[in-house]
This record gives sequence, C-alpha cells and structure tokens, in this order.
Amino acid sequence: MAGQERKAGRTAEPPRHIAIIMDGNGRWATRRGLPRTAGHKAGAETFRRIATYCKNIGVKYLTVYAFSTENWKRSETEVAAIMALLKKYLLEAVDTMERDHIRLHFFGDMTPISPELRALARETDEITEHLSRDDFQANVCLNYGGRDEILRAVRQFAEDCAAGIRKPYDMDEEEFSSYLDSRGIPDPELIIRPSGELRLSNFLLWQSAYSEFYFTDTLWPDFDEAELDRAIAEFQKRDRRFGGVKK
Ligand code: FPP
Repeated sequence: MAGQERKAGRTAEPPRHIAIIMDGNGRWATRRGLPRTAGHKAGAETFRRIATYCKNIGVKYLTVYAFSTENWKRSETEVAAIMALLKKYLLEAVDTMERDHIRLHFFGDMTPISPELRALARETDEITEHLSRDDFQANVCLNYGGRDEILRAVRQFAEDCAAGIRKPYDMDEEEFSSYLDSRGIPDPELIIRPSGELRLSNFLLWQSAYSEFYFTDTLWPDFDEAELDRAIAEFQKRDRRFGGVKK
C-alpha cells in the first residue's frame, strides 16, 4: 500500500502485524459434546493467551475476527453468548490495559452493537489514547466485513467530496486507506486461519493484498504458542516480492 513500508525478501523478524480468523470454536465444542457457546468461551481464552504471547515476542499489532457482519445469522443464544464474552473481556481490559500497556481498537460498524458494549468500547478507546503508540495493540473486528468496510469508506469519501473537503482526484491508495477502520495501522504481513478452512471470509479484503497466509487444521481453542511459532517460522521462510522479481 502506498505510504507503507514494504520489506521484500525473507526476514528473521516476527511480523509486525498478525491477523487471525478465530475459527473452529463450534466444532471444538461439538466434538466434546458441549454447546457451541463453550467453544467461544475457550476461544476467548485462546485470544487472551495468544495476545499476551504476541506482545511478549514483539509483534506490534494483532487483529482478530471476533464477529462478522454475517454472524448475526446465528441463533440468538449464540450471538448473545459472544456479546457477553466481549463484555467480560472489555470490562477486564478497562482494568488492566493501562497496567499491561495494551492498546485496544475496534474495526467494524458499531451502530448495531448494544449501547452497553459501545460505551465500554469508548472507554477502552479513551484509555488507548493515553497509551504510547509504541505499545502493543489488539484490534478486535466486531460487526466487521471487508466489503462493508470498503463501502463505508467509499460513502464517507463521497460525502467529503460533496462537502468540498476532498476532490475525486485526491483518491489514491494512501488516501483510500485513511478512510478504512485500519487507518494508521500497517497491513498484516501474516494472516492465520485455523480449523482447516481455506477462505478469507470477508476479512481485511483491502489490507490483505500482499499478506502471507498460514492455514492449520488446529481448531482455534487448541491453537497455542507453539502453533504461532510454527506460523511465524513458516512466514520467515517465505520470499516476499510484492510483484517484483527475485534479486
Ligand atoms: C468462529 O468459530 C468464531 C466466532 C464467530 C466467534 C469468535 C468469538 C470469540 C472467540 C469470543 C470473543 C472474542 C474476544 C476477542 C474476547 P465458529 O463458531 O464459526 O466455529 P465452527 O466453524 O467450528 O462452527
């Protein structure tokens, strides 16, 4: 993306930004004879573990897909359980993010989210504003869809043009990125999808243009530090060329 640093070739560094589709919670629970909601509970714990690990090994941004624009099609019980988990983790974050130097940010259209969760997200946003930009940042995608994010950006840019703030020819990759939920955040170098599914499922459509992908059959609740190490080792072996040629 224009304005973003792109390092071609192989690297010994961990990726600066890792994005994860936290998939397989339902199957994990069903295989144990548990309700799907138990899988989300276990998946939320895995998120906590993996976020802590990312922070400790020097990953700067972790973006996770928690609830998509399509997930409203699930049963009311399941949607309510995911929202309750988010509330629990946000309440906990309000108490700990300053101490642990963890920034929290949301991607997605928050309008249909409950006023209570939105208020909590505003609280975590305020705490984040007081933390250093060098601190680790977790981005939680909530009521997020890549296409929806692009459409919201297009609408806002059109409105800004109509208001005379922008002109159509101002639009380029950098300008477009500045209208996305991910504004100011580098694109993910590595996208991980557990649970054996080989799809992007409307996740970070614009930002994933040059991402490396890592797929594993491990279900998200079973995903652990060793699996993340494997994903990073795999990433470090990849020869990233961004459309250029091998030197
Ligand atoms: C996908 O697995 C998972 C979700 C749609 C929900 C993820 C939400 C959480 C882990 C809870 C809260 C998050 C945070 C950040 C605290 P699936 O249900 O589609 O699994 P399946 O494909 O096996 O059915």
